Amino acid sequence: MKGVILAGGLGSRLYPLTRVTNKHLLPVFNKPMIYYPLQALVEVGIKDILIVTGGNYAGEFLRLLGNGAEFGLKEIHYTYQVGEAGIADALRLAEDFADRDRIVVILGDNIFSTSIKKYIEKFLKQKEGAKILIKKVKNPEKFGVVEIKNNKIVSIEEKPKKPKSNYIVTGIYMYDYRVFDFIRKLKKSKRGEYEITDVNNMYLKANLLTYDILEGFWTDCGTFTSLLCANILVAKKLKINLKEIQ
Ligand code: DAU
Repeated sequence: MKGVILAGGLGSRLYPLTRVTNKHLLPVFNKPMIYYPLQALVEVGIKDILIVTGGNYAGEFLRLLGNGAEFGLKEIHYTYQVGEAGIADALRLAEDFADRDRIVVILGDNIFSTSIKKYIEKFLKQKEGAKILIKKVKNPEKFGVVEIKNNKIVSIEEKPKKPKSNYIVTGIYMYDYRVFDFIRKLKKSKRGEYEITDVNNMYLKANLLTYDILEGFWTDCGTFTSLLCANILVAKKLKINLKEIQ
């Protein structure tokens, strides 16, 4: 099992915070954002890790993380996404790295409190296919939304105006080698991106998609509000006394 962290994109919803740095290098309480997905992978014993980044500040990842010694890694693999044509476009770059092994993919701006160990173990028992981790939220229209009937996912819609449920797809995905074949078949969405939701729907159609509900807290950091939320959740987890704020 190998790990892939996707940390490309422009982070334009966070301008001007992201004008002179990459979103994933911004602080989330006491650590740069990218530390969280990286530690989540290291914690479950994944040693082969690829970071896909892009934009003007890609070199800063190397300055910050080097070869990963601070995380107990022998090396970190890096690659560069030209442009920002979507999550699936960034993942495409991981094909040679994956080398037909199974991969766990984490979006570089996802912050969560629970170890992903048990989900990965379940996925490894699965003969083939993919697994997504879902979560109940109050604002599903901002995410990929899953519709579940009789404990089975029946549809996944990216940022629907009328969400069919409050369950959304978090940015933690587990895939077999097929993911790259599916990515090759993708067409750009209306917003001009290669959507990971389309990939997940291809697995769903092939009857190869399972899910689990992610325990603990989860948020992304794509907007000012969610970034603030991530900071507060991490501070609370560290039992920082937020009452000190006057
Ligand atoms: O966070 C979970 C959500 O992430 C899912 O529920 C959605 O289905 C999924 O599409 C995605 O939604 P966002 O619109 O919030 O994704 P965003 O464009 O913010 O990208 C998330 C991360 O993916 C970003 O932190 C870095 C990486 N990325 C994104 C793009 C567009 C890349 O590496 N390259 C890219 O071109």
